[in-house]
Amino acid sequence: MQSPPATVELRPVDDANVRAVIDLSVTEDQTEFVAPNVYSLAQAFATTKVWVRAVYAGDDPVGFVMLSDDDEKPRYYLWRFMIDAEHQGKGYGRAAMELVHEYVRTRPGGDRIYLSYVPAEGGPEPFYKGLGYVDTGTEHDGELEAVLVFEPSDG
Ligand SMILES: CC(C)(COP(=O)(O)OP(=O)(O)OC[C@H]1O[C@@H](n2cnc3c(N)ncnc32)[C@H](O)[C@@H]1OP(=O)(O)O)[C@@H](O)C(=O)NCCC(=O)NCCS
Repeated sequence: MQSPPATVELRPVDDANVRAVIDLSVTEDQTEFVAPNVYSLAQAFATTKVWVRAVYAGDDPVGFVMLSDDDEKPRYYLWRFMIDAEHQGKGYGRAAMELVHEYVRTRPGGDRIYLSYVPAEGGPEPFYKGLGYVDTGTEHDGELEAVLVFEPSDG
């Protein structure tokens, strides 16, 4: 795999970048796989147990991530994840997911992360399987659930 050309970071969504995050979009063919960021941000506004971040490549916002993050009932669930169409295929998605995994590992009971995906041609299944996710066998509204159990960390 080629390494991303710019350093990837997850940064809070705030006054300074919220418009840029709203403007990020996937290709027309991918719109069935993820909600528009403006919709996700509206949901995040109405939910307390959520962790929202912009994906940055260097100083450019290139993606968005939203995680269900309830440490009282720890079941960390990737709710939304996208990389803007112009920035896909550069390793940013993988690098951002590795940072999401690092974050979950810092959370109480954070030994695994769940997600669900639309099982369709051109969808994100090969991307997630490449990161080590395995199907749990559970289906929610036509989406298949998958989980990644983290390896115990050194020390
Ligand atoms: C899925 C998505 C996040 C991947 O982001 P990306 O930045 O393009 O992915 P990367 O460049 O980091 O790719 C990492 C690896 O996954 C592979 N990959 C990425 N998307 C893939 C796809 N749709 N099909 C097959 N392989 C894919 C890459 O080839 C690469 O493989 P390698 O490690 O062997 O080189 C991005 O395509 C996207 O936003 N899709 C639309 C929204 C979506 O489906 N979100 C998920 C909702 S559950």
